[in-house]
Amino acid sequence: MSGFRGQVTLDGPSGTGKSSVARGVAARLGAAYLDTGAMYRAATVAVLTAGADPADAEAVARVVAAARIEVGTDAATETVLVDGVDVAERIRGAEVTRAVSAVSAVPAVRRQLVDQQRALVAGADAVVVEGRDIGTVVLPDATVKIYLTAAPEARAQRRAAQLGLSAPAEIAELAADLRRRDEFDSSRADSPLRPAADAIVVDSTELDQQGVVARVVTLAREAVSVG
Ligand code: DC
Repeated sequence: MSGFRGQVTLDGPSGTGKSSVARGVAARLGAAYLDTGAMYRAATVAVLTAGADPADAEAVARVVAAARIEVGTDAATETVLVDGVDVAERIRGAEVTRAVSAVSAVPAVRRQLVDQQRALVAGADAVVVEGRDIGTVVLPDATVKIYLTAAPEARAQRRAAQLGLSAPAEIAELAADLRRRDEFDSSRADSPLRPAADAIVVDSTELDQQGVVARVVTLAREAVSVG
Protein backbone atom coordinates (compact mmCIF):
# COMPACT_ATOMS: atom_id res chain seq x y z
CA MET A 1 0.00 0.00 0.00
CA SER A 2 1.03 3.62 0.33
CA GLY A 3 3.18 3.19 3.41
CA PHE A 4 2.27 6.69 4.57
CA ARG A 5 3.24 7.42 8.16
CA GLY A 6 2.45 10.71 9.79
CA GLN A 7 -0.29 13.16 10.61
CA VAL A 8 -2.47 14.95 8.07
CA THR A 9 -4.51 17.88 9.39
CA LEU A 10 -7.55 19.04 7.45
CA ASP A 11 -9.01 22.34 8.63
CA GLY A 12 -11.49 24.74 7.09
CA PRO A 13 -15.02 26.09 7.31
CA SER A 14 -18.18 23.99 7.02
CA GLY A 15 -19.65 23.00 3.69
CA THR A 16 -16.32 22.44 1.92
CA GLY A 17 -16.84 18.67 1.79
CA LYS A 18 -14.13 18.36 4.45
CA SER A 19 -15.51 15.27 6.19
CA SER A 20 -15.97 13.25 3.00
CA VAL A 21 -12.52 14.32 1.82
CA ALA A 22 -10.93 13.44 5.18
CA ARG A 23 -12.52 9.97 5.18
CA GLY A 24 -11.48 9.41 1.56
CA VAL A 25 -7.90 10.48 2.27
CA ALA A 26 -7.71 8.26 5.36
CA ALA A 27 -8.98 5.27 3.35
CA ARG A 28 -6.47 5.88 0.54
CA LEU A 29 -3.55 6.31 2.98
CA GLY A 30 -4.61 3.40 5.19
CA ALA A 31 -4.74 5.89 8.06
CA ALA A 32 -6.90 6.35 11.15
CA TYR A 33 -9.39 9.23 11.06
CA LEU A 34 -10.59 11.62 13.74
CA ASP A 35 -13.54 13.98 13.26
CA THR A 36 -13.04 16.60 15.96
CA GLY A 37 -16.24 18.41 14.97
CA ALA A 38 -18.11 15.26 16.06
CA MET A 39 -16.52 15.69 19.51
CA TYR A 40 -17.77 19.30 19.85
CA ARG A 41 -21.16 18.13 18.61
CA ALA A 42 -21.18 15.30 21.18
CA ALA A 43 -20.32 17.83 23.91
CA THR A 44 -23.29 19.87 22.68
CA VAL A 45 -25.56 16.83 23.01
CA ALA A 46 -24.40 16.51 26.62
CA VAL A 47 -25.26 20.18 27.25
CA LEU A 48 -28.72 19.92 25.66
CA THR A 49 -29.47 16.62 27.42
CA ALA A 50 -28.60 18.20 30.76
CA GLY A 51 -30.98 21.08 30.00
CA ALA A 52 -28.15 23.60 30.31
CA ASP A 53 -28.14 26.86 28.35
CA PRO A 54 -25.48 26.66 25.58
CA ALA A 55 -24.84 30.39 26.09
CA ASP A 56 -23.99 29.88 29.79
CA ALA A 57 -20.24 29.18 29.57
CA GLU A 58 -19.91 28.07 33.18
CA ALA A 59 -22.78 25.62 33.00
CA VAL A 60 -21.47 24.31 29.67
CA ALA A 61 -17.99 23.76 31.10
CA ARG A 62 -19.43 21.94 34.12
CA VAL A 63 -21.64 19.61 32.08
CA VAL A 64 -18.95 18.78 29.53
CA ALA A 65 -16.34 18.10 32.23
CA ALA A 66 -18.64 15.46 33.68
CA ALA A 67 -19.62 13.89 30.34
CA ARG A 68 -17.93 10.83 28.85
CA ILE A 69 -17.41 11.58 25.17
CA GLU A 70 -16.22 8.73 22.98
CA VAL A 71 -15.42 9.15 19.29
CA GLY A 72 -13.93 6.38 17.15
CA THR A 73 -10.89 6.69 14.89
CA ASP A 74 -11.91 4.26 12.16
CA ALA A 75 -12.55 5.90 8.76
CA ALA A 76 -15.09 3.26 7.74
CA THR A 77 -17.44 3.43 10.74
CA GLU A 78 -18.70 6.36 12.76
CA THR A 79 -18.77 5.85 16.53
CA VAL A 80 -19.99 8.73 18.70
CA LEU A 81 -21.12 8.05 22.26
CA VAL A 82 -22.07 10.35 25.12
CA ASP A 83 -22.14 8.59 28.47
CA GLY A 84 -22.44 5.30 26.63
CA VAL A 85 -25.40 6.40 24.45
CA ASP A 86 -25.04 6.30 20.65
CA VAL A 87 -25.57 9.88 19.41
CA ALA A 88 -24.09 9.51 15.91
CA GLU A 89 -27.37 10.58 14.32
CA ARG A 90 -28.38 13.20 16.86
CA ILE A 91 -25.14 15.18 16.48
CA ARG A 92 -26.11 15.99 12.87
CA GLY A 93 -29.54 17.40 13.79
CA ALA A 94 -30.53 21.07 13.56
CA GLU A 95 -30.74 21.54 17.34
CA VAL A 96 -27.11 20.51 17.84
CA THR A 97 -25.92 22.41 14.75
CA ARG A 98 -27.50 25.61 16.14
CA ALA A 99 -25.88 25.29 19.57
CA VAL A 100 -22.44 23.87 18.72
CA SER A 101 -20.64 27.16 17.96
CA ALA A 102 -21.45 28.49 21.44
CA VAL A 103 -20.33 25.26 23.14
CA SER A 104 -17.11 25.05 21.12
CA ALA A 105 -16.21 28.65 22.02
CA VAL A 106 -15.90 27.80 25.74
CA PRO A 107 -12.15 27.61 26.58
CA ALA A 108 -12.54 24.85 29.21
CA VAL A 109 -14.40 22.69 26.68
CA ARG A 110 -11.67 23.25 24.10
CA ARG A 111 -8.90 22.38 26.57
CA GLN A 112 -10.65 19.16 27.55
CA LEU A 113 -11.37 18.06 23.98
CA VAL A 114 -7.94 19.08 22.64
CA ASP A 115 -6.29 16.91 25.34
CA GLN A 116 -8.57 14.05 24.35
CA GLN A 117 -7.83 14.57 20.64
CA ARG A 118 -4.07 14.46 21.21
CA ALA A 119 -4.41 11.29 23.28
CA LEU A 120 -6.59 9.64 20.62
CA VAL A 121 -4.07 10.17 17.81
CA ALA A 122 -0.90 9.69 19.87
CA GLY A 123 -0.64 5.98 19.16
CA ALA A 124 -1.47 6.08 15.44
CA ASP A 125 1.26 5.57 12.82
CA ALA A 126 -0.87 7.37 10.27
CA VAL A 127 -3.86 9.58 10.96
CA VAL A 128 -6.04 12.18 9.28
CA VAL A 129 -7.52 14.70 11.72
CA GLU A 130 -10.30 17.02 10.66
CA GLY A 131 -11.45 20.24 12.35
CA ARG A 132 -10.87 23.98 12.62
CA ASP A 133 -7.75 24.34 14.78
CA ILE A 134 -5.89 21.08 14.17
CA GLY A 135 -2.93 22.56 12.27
CA THR A 136 -2.78 25.68 14.46
CA VAL A 137 -3.37 24.28 17.96
CA VAL A 138 -3.98 20.54 18.30
CA LEU A 139 -1.12 19.16 16.16
CA PRO A 140 1.23 22.07 15.35
CA ASP A 141 3.98 19.62 14.30
CA ALA A 142 1.82 17.62 11.87
CA THR A 143 3.46 16.15 8.77
CA VAL A 144 1.18 17.97 6.34
CA LYS A 145 -1.44 20.64 6.96
CA ILE A 146 -4.29 21.23 4.55
CA TYR A 147 -6.73 24.14 4.74
CA LEU A 148 -9.78 23.39 2.61
CA THR A 149 -11.84 26.30 1.28
CA ALA A 150 -14.62 26.78 -1.26
CA ALA A 151 -16.70 29.72 -2.47
CA PRO A 152 -19.69 30.34 -0.14
CA GLU A 153 -22.24 29.64 -2.91
CA ALA A 154 -20.60 26.29 -3.68
CA ARG A 155 -20.69 25.40 0.02
CA ALA A 156 -24.37 26.31 0.35
CA GLN A 157 -25.20 24.28 -2.78
CA ARG A 158 -23.36 21.27 -1.38
CA ARG A 159 -25.16 21.51 1.96
CA ALA A 160 -28.51 21.86 0.15
CA ALA A 161 -27.84 18.72 -1.89
CA GLN A 162 -27.00 16.80 1.30
CA LEU A 163 -30.27 17.92 2.88
CA GLY A 164 -32.36 17.37 -0.26
CA LEU A 165 -33.25 21.08 -0.59
CA SER A 166 -33.43 22.94 -3.88
CA ALA A 167 -35.56 26.11 -3.50
CA PRO A 168 -33.50 29.32 -3.95
CA ALA A 169 -34.85 30.72 -0.66
CA GLU A 170 -33.72 27.57 1.19
CA ILE A 171 -30.25 27.78 -0.37
CA ALA A 172 -30.00 31.49 0.53
CA GLU A 173 -30.96 30.60 4.11
CA LEU A 174 -28.26 27.92 4.20
CA ALA A 175 -25.68 30.37 2.83
CA ALA A 176 -26.62 32.90 5.52
CA ASP A 177 -26.36 30.22 8.19
CA LEU A 178 -22.91 29.12 6.94
CA ARG A 179 -21.71 32.74 6.95
CA ARG A 180 -22.98 33.25 10.50
CA ARG A 181 -21.20 30.13 11.74
CA ASP A 182 -17.95 30.98 9.91
CA GLU A 183 -17.95 34.48 11.35
CA PHE A 184 -18.52 33.14 14.83
CA ASP A 185 -15.86 30.41 14.48
CA SER A 186 -13.32 32.81 12.91
CA SER A 187 -13.79 35.62 15.41
CA ARG A 188 -13.91 33.69 18.70
CA ALA A 189 -11.07 34.52 21.09
CA ASP A 190 -9.93 30.94 21.70
CA SER A 191 -8.47 29.04 18.70
CA PRO A 192 -10.28 30.89 15.90
CA LEU A 193 -10.69 29.26 12.50
CA ARG A 194 -7.70 30.27 10.33
CA PRO A 195 -5.07 28.52 8.21
CA ALA A 196 -1.80 27.62 9.95
CA ALA A 197 1.18 29.60 8.62
CA ASP A 198 2.53 26.39 7.04
CA ALA A 199 -0.81 25.06 5.74
CA ILE A 200 -1.41 24.35 2.06
CA VAL A 201 -4.68 25.94 0.96
CA VAL A 202 -6.78 23.72 -1.33
CA ASP A 203 -9.80 25.36 -2.98
CA SER A 204 -12.51 22.78 -3.69
CA THR A 205 -14.88 25.13 -5.57
CA GLU A 206 -13.96 23.72 -8.98
CA LEU A 207 -12.97 20.20 -7.92
CA ASP A 208 -15.20 17.21 -7.22
CA GLN A 209 -14.65 15.14 -4.10
CA GLN A 210 -12.42 12.60 -5.84
CA GLY A 211 -10.30 15.41 -7.23
CA VAL A 212 -9.78 16.92 -3.79
CA VAL A 213 -8.99 13.52 -2.24
CA ALA A 214 -6.42 12.83 -4.96
CA ARG A 215 -4.81 16.25 -4.46
CA VAL A 216 -4.55 15.84 -0.67
CA VAL A 217 -3.18 12.29 -0.98
CA THR A 218 -0.51 13.55 -3.38
CA LEU A 219 0.42 16.40 -1.01
CA ALA A 220 0.62 13.98 1.94
CA ARG A 221 2.89 11.57 0.04
CA GLU A 222 5.09 14.42 -1.20
CA ALA A 223 5.45 15.76 2.34
CA VAL A 224 6.73 12.38 3.52
CA SER A 225 9.14 11.82 0.63
CA VAL A 226 10.49 15.37 0.81
CA GLY A 227 10.51 15.64 4.60
O1 DC B 1 -17.11 20.35 11.36
P1 DC B 1 -18.42 20.42 12.11
O2 DC B 1 -19.48 21.24 11.39
O3 DC B 1 -18.94 19.11 12.54
O4 DC B 1 -18.06 21.24 13.43
C1 DC B 1 -19.04 21.54 14.37
C2 DC B 1 -18.69 22.81 15.13
O5 DC B 1 -17.59 22.56 16.01
C3 DC B 1 -18.34 24.02 14.28
O6 DC B 1 -19.24 25.09 14.59
C4 DC B 1 -16.96 24.43 14.69
C5 DC B 1 -16.63 23.59 15.89
N1 DC B 1 -15.30 22.98 15.81
C6 DC B 1 -14.28 23.61 16.46
O7 DC B 1 -14.50 24.68 17.05
N2 DC B 1 -13.04 23.07 16.47
C7 DC B 1 -12.80 21.91 15.83
N3 DC B 1 -11.56 21.40 15.86
C8 DC B 1 -13.84 21.24 15.15
C9 DC B 1 -15.09 21.82 15.15
